[in-house]
Amino acid sequence: MCGIFGYIGEDDPLQTCLLGLEQLEYRGYDSTGIAGLVDGQIAICKEVGKLSQLKAKLTLQRLTIAIGHTRWATHGKVTPVNAHPHQDVQEAIALVHNGIIENYEELKEELHTQGVRFQTETDTEVLTNLIAKCYTGDLVQAVQKALLRVRGHFAFALVHKHHPQEIIAAARECPLSIGVNDAHTESIISSDPNAFLGKTLNVLFLRSGEIAKVEKGKVSVFDSQLRSLAKKTERLDAGTAAPSKEGFEHFMLKEIYEQPSTVQKAYLGRLEEGEVQFESLSEEFRTPSQICFIACGTSAHAGAIGALLVEDFAAIPSHYEIASEARYRILPQNTLIVAISQSGETADTLAAVREMKARGYKVLGICNVKNSTLTRETDACIFLKAGPEVSVCSTKAFTSQITVLYLFAQFLSGKRVSEDLKNVPAQIEKVLECAPRIQQIAKKYSRFNNFFFLGRRYMFPTCMEAALKLKEISYVNANGYAAGELKHGPIALLDPHFPVIAFCANHQTEEKIVSNVQEVKARSAPILALAPESLKGIAKIVDDVIWLPNTSDALAPFASTVAGQLFAYFVAKERGCDIDQPRNLAKSVTVE
Ligand code: AGP
Repeated sequence: MCGIFGYIGEDDPLQTCLLGLEQLEYRGYDSTGIAGLVDGQIAICKEVGKLSQLKAKLTLQRLTIAIGHTRWATHGKVTPVNAHPHQDVQEAIALVHNGIIENYEELKEELHTQGVRFQTETDTEVLTNLIAKCYTGDLVQAVQKALLRVRGHFAFALVHKHHPQEIIAAARECPLSIGVNDAHTESIISSDPNAFLGKTLNVLFLRSGEIAKVEKGKVSVFDSQLRSLAKKTERLDAGTAAPSKEGFEHFMLKEIYEQPSTVQKAYLGRLEEGEVQFESLSEEFRTPSQICFIACGTSAHAGAIGALLVEDFAAIPSHYEIASEARYRILPQNTLIVAISQSGETADTLAAVREMKARGYKVLGICNVKNSTLTRETDACIFLKAGPEVSVCSTKAFTSQITVLYLFAQFLSGKRVSEDLKNVPAQIEKVLECAPRIQQIAKKYSRFNNFFFLGRRYMFPTCMEAALKLKEISYVNANGYAAGELKHGPIALLDPHFPVIAFCANHQTEEKIVSNVQEVKARSAPILALAPESLKGIAKIVDDVIWLPNTSDALAPFASTVAGQLFAYFVAKERGCDIDQPRNLAKSVTVE
């Protein structure tokens, strides 16, 4: 998953590109780079690390056109030479790419026999040289010819020294948006239209197989047969303010503290006088015979909670599938697919959605980003309204997802519903007030390198989510398990250096989780329990307790999750980790 950006217009192409890359850094920050044209020659500057490292060494002046890139490494180590943009051997083309060229090795072999000598380990350099080989004067034609040989999914943009007034872009299953201003004096390309900061543009979205010739204030789009296409545009005002930390040390902490308000925004206007309604959902979605939630990572954990909620509130058989596995499963034809994705750009989820659509399933999206690819490929979409989530580690999006799923389960019940969801913001506030105590406990546990997180029923996906938080920002081997499963093998790992975090806020399974905690204690593992105030007795068994407000089993994931988020945050802080941009990760995983 990488970010690509391009600019041709009246503003300074270099500065505009840098601003755009700042908004795209969430898509990967292993390396960054910019290329453009200066006096008819390609000029490139690229560096490993974050955008700040590139800025520190920038020497590009007077660019008349520019393309930029933020990289999350797929092929080739994180080195300066593997950073994008990449050039062909004649240095006529510079290209930035998001995606994977699946048959790059055979193409590389073929080009090598034709005398091409490669400098890098990347698939992108192969693509660049393939296009150069196909070039006989018409750049769009060269791209079209090259793409007939390419397998994989991609979005790329390139400049050519003999075509100083145009950027060529193409996409196949990866996002690429192109905006033009009303005055037709500038054109901007981006992996994410929300990077068009400070601009009001007419935006088009390249569909798979399309090629665009982008000139100053003008875009021509062609299909894979080079037939000209008339593309619909959407008016987009991307706003001016880049997200700020608002005084918090990290975006993650800011977004944790936003949750009382973002949960409220997720149910506002949708839960009135015992009635649930969604602005984008027609009655046809009210009576599925069964539901399969598909998603990745944190969103998959939300889907797992969604399945329990739908079964509890509407008695509709439901389950969740990891998106990268879902596409290989057989589901009854009348299954409603619910695809959950904060970014709306996760390649695994999009691939599963496309597969399910091709098989005729109806697909409902739950997403946080308007104009994202998922919102254009589902039959309907419910938005989280959580605002931009900047930290790679998802927090407010998760609690907004389970808010929407709680409402969706009530919507499916078709009955008048209780409004106890409206107690959640106050419950989260109570947990946030315990932050100093949670930090104290986190410091004590920050020296351990292995954890089990345990839970039953609603606490099972909740503990999975909490384990993922700790894993991804503190690089600790933390794994969530169904508490009942521990004794079937994993318990062999327990010893005084292997703590267990027990998520106990599930009344229906309280006795069983207490037994599991006893089994853990018998192996002398340190135990931290996250428990409702009603489970006072747990304090006699475990080493530490984070007390949570009493609530129903279905609402318990909220407070438990926020406590888990804070625990992970403070452990990572204690361990001196890069909390908002953890190593090897990116906010939106746009490769499979
Ligand atoms: C969450 O903290 C992770 N960054 C990751 O698991 C994420 O949830 C996953 O990649 C799915 O992203 P999406 O919701 O944007 O599809």
